[in-house]
Amino acid sequence: MKQWIDIAALSDVPRLGARVVAHGEDEIAVFRAADDAVFALHNRCPHRNGPLSEGIVHGHRVTCPLHNWVIELDRGEAVAPDSGSTACYPVRVENGRILLELETAAEAAHG
Ligand code: FES
Repeated sequence: MKQWIDIAALSDVPRLGARVVAHGEDEIAVFRAADDAVFALHNRCPHRNGPLSEGIVHGHRVTCPLHNWVIELDRGEAVAPDSGSTACYPVRVENGRILLELETAAEAAHG
């Protein structure tokens, strides 16, 4: 079953930055754009699993730190000419808190 889980305050994630949330064996990268839009992606680049949370956020995209692929934060898709995608998670901000929709079977912990 899926459930909305409070993972951090919006202010815990710097603008144009990211925070990593553990989700079972996986990591979820939660990004905050300059306009305070928040996105959540699997913390692995579709190219060779680079840590997207360490990339550069610009607009609603992130540039992977390893080989500069550009990934759309809202869909997890690589921008052409590259192709591939990484999983994205439903996320919303409510009363200054970031909520992620996750399977409750797996445990979410603050990263
Ligand atoms: S691992 Fe991200 S561009 Fe290569």
